[in-house]
Amino acid sequence: MNAEKIRRDFPIFKRRINGRPLVFLDSASTSQKPVQVLDAMEDFYRNSNSNVHRPVYKISEEATEMYESAREKVARFVGARDHHVIFTNNCTEAINLVARGWAQRNVKRGESIVSSVMEHHSNIVPWQSLKGATLRFADVGDSGLLGDLPMDKKTRLVSLTHVSNVLGTVNDVKKIAKEAHENGALFMMDGAQSVPHMKVDVGKIGCDFLAFSGHKMLGPTGIGALVVRKDVADDMDPLLFGSGMIREVTLKGTTFADAPMKFETGTPNISGAVGLSAAIDYLEKVGMRNIERHGRSLTEIAMRSLGGMDKMKIYGPRKNRSDVLSFSLGDAHSHDVATILDDRGIAVRSGHHCAQPLMRRFGVGSMTRASFYLYNTVDEVRQLAEGLGESARVLKV
Ligand SMILES: Cc1ncc(COP(=O)(O)O)c(C=O)c1O
Repeated sequence: MNAEKIRRDFPIFKRRINGRPLVFLDSASTSQKPVQVLDAMEDFYRNSNSNVHRPVYKISEEATEMYESAREKVARFVGARDHHVIFTNNCTEAINLVARGWAQRNVKRGESIVSSVMEHHSNIVPWQSLKGATLRFADVGDSGLLGDLPMDKKTRLVSLTHVSNVLGTVNDVKKIAKEAHENGALFMMDGAQSVPHMKVDVGKIGCDFLAFSGHKMLGPTGIGALVVRKDVADDMDPLLFGSGMIREVTLKGTTFADAPMKFETGTPNISGAVGLSAAIDYLEKVGMRNIERHGRSLTEIAMRSLGGMDKMKIYGPRKNRSDVLSFSLGDAHSHDVATILDDRGIAVRSGHHCAQPLMRRFGVGSMTRASFYLYNTVDEVRQLAEGLGESARVLKV
C-alpha cells in the first residue's frame, strides 16, 4: 500500500496551514474524502438528482437504484446476509434506534444492559435515557484491556465498542458475542472505529446489531447505518414516524412498511448513500487488510518514537491495538499541546474524546490523541514526534 500515492486522491492535502502542509492526525474523529467520493456525489446532484422510491420517471429510477445499490454494497462490505441495513444519520442515531426501537420495548424493569467504561458517550447516554433498564458497566484495566462483563440471566443486551476511540483497544467481540448469546442476551457492536479500519463481518462475529458512521470511512457526513438481524428487526419500533415508512395510512391509523423502509422516515440522505458507496469502493480497492496493516504499523512506529520521550504517558495496550494513540505529556494540558502542534500544521484531537467515564478511570481530565488512516505516512509520524519535542520545550514539562 502506497500512502504517498493515496494522498494524491485527497484534495485537502493541498492545503497549507501556517505555511506548512496539513498533517491530519484526527481521522478517528472524521476522515478526509477522496476525489472519487466528491465526484460521485457531484455527479448524482448534476445528473440524477430526484427523490427515491416514489416517482416513476427515469432520473428517479436512477436515484432509487443508486440508493438501493449503496445499501447492498454496505451489506456486502460488513458481511450482512441475515441482516437488514438501515441508513441513519450516523453511528449515534443508529445506537439510539436500538435503544428506543428495541430496548425500550424488550428490556423490562429489573433487567439489565451491559456496556463498559471505555465507551464513547454515544454508547452510554442512549441507554441512560431508557426507563426501567438497569445499566452495568465492565471496567477497564490499567493496560487498557476490557474487564469481565457483569452479565447475569437478567441481561438482555450487551453493547460494546469493537475498538476504543481513545485506547485503541481491539475487543475480542466474537468471544463477547458468544458469551452474550449463551446468557440469552443480544450483542450490539459499536463499529465506529472498526468498520473504517479493518474487515468486519457481522455474521462471523455474531452481531445482532452493528452501528457505524460513513464520515469516518471516507464518506460524507450525515450518513451511517444500523445493521440489524432480520428477525430482531421484526421486534423493533421506528425512531421517527411519517412519510416513507408507511404501508397504508387512514385517518384511523397506519400500517408500516417492511424493514428496512419502516425505519427510514422522510426523504433519506440519497447523496450521502451515493458518497458512502463510492467510499466503500475506494476502501475495497486499497484493501481492508492493507489499511489495517498500514494503520497498525504507523501506530507501532509512533509508539516507539513517542515512548522514548521524557514525561510521555501513552494509554492503551502495548500490542494488538488499532490506529489511535492517546497520550499525556507531563502535566501539560492537551489543548496546549494540540495548539503548539497546530502551529506546525499538525491536527490532533485534544479533550475528553467523548469518553468522560474513561478519562475519570485514568484519573485525567483530557488526553491528546493522534489517529492514523490510509493516507498518513511515516514522515508525518516523524513530524508529530518533532512537534511533541517542541511542545515539551515550550511548555517546560
Ligand atoms: C467509538 C465511537 N462510537 C460512536 C461514535 C459516534 O460517532 P458519530 O458522531 O459519527 O455518531 C464515535 C465517534 O467518534 C466513536 O468513536
